[in-house]
Amino acid sequence: MSPLDISPEEFQSLATRITDLAARFLTALPTLPSFPNVSGQQTRERFGEPLPERGLKGAALERLEDVVAMSRPPSPRFQGYVLGSGEPVAALADLLASVLNQNVTAWRSSPAAVTIEKQVIEWLATAVGCNGFGGSLCSGASAANLMALAMAREARLPSEQGDARSAIVYASSEAHMSIPKAVALLGLGRGSLHLIPTDDAWRMDVRGLQATIEKDVAAGGKPIAVVATAGTVTTGAIDPLESIAAICRQHGLWLHVDGAYGALSAIADPERLRGLALADSLSLDPHKWLYQPVDCGALLYRSAAAARAAFSNTGEYARAFGSDPLEAFAFFEESMELSRRFRALKLWLSLRYHGAEAFRAAIRCDLQHARDLARMIGDCADLELLAPVELSAVCFRYRGRIAEKDSDGINAAILKRLIERGRVYLSNASIAGRFALRACFVNHRTTDSDVAAIVPEVLAASGDVLGTRAATAET
Ligand SMILES: Cc1ncc(COP(=O)(O)O)c(C=O)c1O
Repeated sequence: MSPLDISPEEFQSLATRITDLAARFLTALPTLPSFPNVSGQQTRERFGEPLPERGLKGAALERLEDVVAMSRPPSPRFQGYVLGSGEPVAALADLLASVLNQNVTAWRSSPAAVTIEKQVIEWLATAVGCNGFGGSLCSGASAANLMALAMAREARLPSEQGDARSAIVYASSEAHMSIPKAVALLGLGRGSLHLIPTDDAWRMDVRGLQATIEKDVAAGGKPIAVVATAGTVTTGAIDPLESIAAICRQHGLWLHVDGAYGALSAIADPERLRGLALADSLSLDPHKWLYQPVDCGALLYRSAAAARAAFSNTGEYARAFGSDPLEAFAFFEESMELSRRFRALKLWLSLRYHGAEAFRAAIRCDLQHARDLARMIGDCADLELLAPVELSAVCFRYRGRIAEKDSDGINAAILKRLIERGRVYLSNASIAGRFALRACFVNHRTTDSDVAAIVPEVLAASGDVLGTRAATAET
């Protein structure tokens, strides 16, 4: 018997302890502070210990209480960044996925898992109106964007034929940081990403795109792709997808849509995202607006042949035998990953457990909550909305009786104080160089009363900050 073996009874007992802990956490979630009351030094001290030489057995689990206590909770009042709330049925599926330990490389290594992942990809594609698209799950949209641009480069400037460094990629100045990162990782050179300015609603200016492409072509450049964003990370703006697709068609460019934040809202509101299906590739993040536990991203694409052209580099040791197309299928031919976890299980179970209608309703509720908050901000003389609310991100700032030159510093202090107060969690954004508070609703737990708590909490935090400043100024 291996010293690593545990009996099924011991597994059951450990699993019960862990699911009990998780259930207690879920029960406490609405009342937990929005950030744990802990410092970096305290976390280091709590977990900084030498690797035990002898196993602690069941006592090892005791420290899980500290892990829970020192975690930032996915509470109903968490509206930071673009982070889904972690649907618990999916979390249970994650446990089983790890026990099954399927390596989702190919059908022959994981027959059920490969079939379920393909099914889930088909569900996602159909749900956002991209019927017939293929694809795969990945760690998140950063990986999906990188793979999409690798496909674009291979499709428009095959690596065997030329110098990929002359390739030009276009995106708006509001594109997510994963786009310049992908361009750099692909060795295209950071200068090959041409950023197009946006209009006053933070959407890519299509006339600017057209003019820049024409100028680049006239100068001998090789445009290969446009990245349109369906839901920018800052304001949730949706680039004009249909107009951008027309420009791509005219110039023979690959159209990648970064829909990490916004594309899945097409499930609830397809009209707003018209044109998604014109993309050659599309990134989606079920760990954002399908409430799945991290990690769960997806890349969808129109042409599996284009994915294979970019990623198929099969070693002899991985060659598939047999001619049944289902059984010969390998994800590693269409993705940069080889070893892959069974991410599809959580999404599959969560979608089957709750049904599409429940997700549609939750997304509609998030959209409504953003509109409600924007209205509450509009009704408050001391607050100012800084950008249109297109999806579920609301960017605003405290205006009160403060000088414009002090606004950034005071709003940064308000955000810090807001998080210290522990009732609401917002993050920050920069809107035309101005510091903004940002609430983003991709949280199935948020209720109307949680939304109603945001403005009073921001005002209370402002009072704390300005009171302290006034007191400091007096002394
Ligand atoms: C528009 C956009 N693209 C890409 C990403 C990166 O996604 P991930 O964190 O899943 O890699 C994000 C993350 O917020 C995003 O909002």
